[in-house]
Amino acid sequence: MLERVLSMRRAAPHTGDAEGDAADESKIRKQNRFSILTARFVNHACKLTHTCPSWPWLLLILLLFFLISSIVHHSLSIICVSNRYDAISRAHFFGFDGLESDFGFLGVPWCRSKHGKTVEWTPKDLLKGLEEFVPIYETRPIKNNMYGMGFDHSFGLWFIARWLKPELMIESGAFKGHSTWVLRQAMPDTPIISLTPRHPEKYLKKGPAYVDGNCTYFAGKDFIDFGSVDWTTVLKKHKATDPTRVLVYFDDHQNELKRIKQALKAGFRHLIFEDNYDTGTGDHYSLRQICDQPYIRGGGHSCFEDSDEARIRSKRKKFWEKAVDKEDLCGPGDTWWGVRGYARDNFNHTNQPISLIEHFENSQFVESILEVYWELPPVAGPSLTHQSRYDPARSVPPIVEDGRYGLFQRLGLGRLDNSVFNGYTQMVYLQISEY
Ligand SMILES: C[S@@+](CC[C@H](N)C(=O)[O-])C[C@H]1O[C@@H](n2cnc3c(N)ncnc32)[C@H](O)[C@@H]1O
Repeated sequence: MLERVLSMRRAAPHTGDAEGDAADESKIRKQNRFSILTARFVNHACKLTHTCPSWPWLLLILLLFFLISSIVHHSLSIICVSNRYDAISRAHFFGFDGLESDFGFLGVPWCRSKHGKTVEWTPKDLLKGLEEFVPIYETRPIKNNMYGMGFDHSFGLWFIARWLKPELMIESGAFKGHSTWVLRQAMPDTPIISLTPRHPEKYLKKGPAYVDGNCTYFAGKDFIDFGSVDWTTVLKKHKATDPTRVLVYFDDHQNELKRIKQALKAGFRHLIFEDNYDTGTGDHYSLRQICDQPYIRGGGHSCFEDSDEARIRSKRKKFWEKAVDKEDLCGPGDTWWGVRGYARDNFNHTNQPISLIEHFENSQFVESILEVYWELPPVAGPSLTHQSRYDPARSVPPIVEDGRYGLFQRLGLGRLDNSVFNGYTQMVYLQISEY
């Protein structure tokens, strides 16, 4: 898999003689340097000891010399790459062949849509949206939204809702109400339905929270799970006659396959999943996990200890908190799919072991009903945001690429606290239909 990933991103190999000559020349130069260094070393040893050491001694001294210099070199390289935010020092550490960025280096699984459709918006639209959204985000009532959305996903939700202009918005999982507030900023007059076990007003007693005036809450004693709602009746009450014009946003940490089936049954077409966890991570079976299949670039994994993938993953784990190494990825019997062979559900409270065949069938089902799959890119590269959690190697390139400091500042992103960029988990927008 890795070889395929690398070969797709490397420049085509040149077979020209000039390059071969240059490589040979550099090898010769290195050998010459080695002989000169050895001769100098012997001369110094003779001068210092006033006798020339015999060969066994010389060999021993040389061996010690190389041992010490290799230890020094190794520790220096560890010190030099302590800056994970700098793409160049990352490249130096990981040694990827002249790639300007390590985004997508380990492949980015995605779900294939049945007709190959994609979204209408372009990177330019996203940039324009960012410029508009930053000042809105700065007015958010809940400044510290730990356990809820950070900046990247808030932007994604706002952008998609504003683009689609739904006639009704449904959210499942509101917590203190930050995502309700984001939906409201996108669509000031559109009704919202919010399903969440604890009413956001309860949080108001302890600190900032958001309760919306044009939102029907199924919360507290009125809480009802998305899968148990009689949507025909509820939509009628909200004068929403067409379920395909409704946007459903899930941030409830439930098995996403279960949620897709429930949404299909109700006739919904536009879905957003906030936490689209990568394989081996998270507390519920996600779209990313479902579509992580050997026929997808970056999909299917090896649990072989000495594989290239295992080696690269263990290195990356030292850099990124949420990077996944072989131990995280592989359960007993080399089960790499889902989370070590389990489809997790309900905040990791109800988990089911699944076989590789079932896992494959799940992706076949998703592909059969999928019109569009679009992962929100991270807003900016880690050299700009200083995020330290998600591994760029498993992500699509950011909207504002590493190194584009001027653009980052112009968009106002530099005014935000670094902590708001730490929650990226590949939010995904889906369009589904049974036909
Ligand atoms: C991660 S928080 C949501 C954060 C929120 N969307 C935000 O951005 O601030 C997850 C929420 O899901 C709620 N939850 C748990 N089970 C649920 C269910 N079955 N349906 C809907 N919400 C659920 C939790 O109580 C919690 O408020």
